[in-house]
Amino acid sequence: MERIVILTGAGISRESGLDTFRDEGGIWSQVRLEDVCTPEGFMRNPEMVDDFYNRRRLELKNVTPNAAHSALAELEKAYGENRDDAFLLVTQNIDDLHERAGSGNVVHMHGELLHLRCLACGATPKWEGPCTRETPCPECGEKTLRPNVVWFGEMPLHMERIMQAIGLCDIFVAIGTSATVYPAAGFAEQAADHAHTVELNLVPTGNAELFDEVSYGPATQVVPRFVRDRLAAQA
Ligand code: APR
Repeated sequence: MERIVILTGAGISRESGLDTFRDEGGIWSQVRLEDVCTPEGFMRNPEMVDDFYNRRRLELKNVTPNAAHSALAELEKAYGENRDDAFLLVTQNIDDLHERAGSGNVVHMHGELLHLRCLACGATPKWEGPCTRETPCPECGEKTLRPNVVWFGEMPLHMERIMQAIGLCDIFVAIGTSATVYPAAGFAEQAADHAHTVELNLVPTGNAELFDEVSYGPATQVVPRFVRDRLAAQA
């Protein structure tokens, strides 16, 4: 099987009912990024940050994966035991919809909404409910919990593993991302000199010229079609 790296962004979860960030009415038009997605914002007003992520955690309970998430889980299954990241799903999303759709090898480079991080002991407990300044860490008891999410100005997670997989891949697919936030926005360029690159998005992004293959439309249509074509080609 050809080695494949898939990068997803907020667009793949849009049809499940979760807002994207930069579309009309998106999250960054509802709340200031500087207030809820930076370490400075957390220092300034932790209660506002707690509230922002508590609302998104609650919202996640009411949505389900869509056909695009399911199609990627189906594609991964075709890779069998999927040795050494031959199939790697890298997501910028902090929701758990890929996992709930059945994807196994998922790397959350911007962290996860359903985990917190303790600033005192470093524990990253799974967390489904609200977190406030009064919530004690389940490991050390300190009231020093924050979302286990990568904020602007912080280092994305699992970058060494991601870069290694991109360096070795035969196919790189970007799905539902505006390609405006680095380092993820640079992955297509890093793959372009050795891999077949594919953009699946509602509309062409600023990176569109970089891709060998493009397909535009709602993810629940273009992703299942892409997976069907790949599986047919492997058969
Ligand atoms: N199907 C496919 N693509 C869609 C759909 C859909 N139904 N709806 C929107 N899109 C596309 C938009 O055209 C856009 O290109 O999804 C993309 C969403 O872009 P952004 O809102 O910028 O989201 P994303 O690229 O994931 O943002 C990257 O920025 O704010 C940070 O940490 C945050 O992980 C996020 C990062």
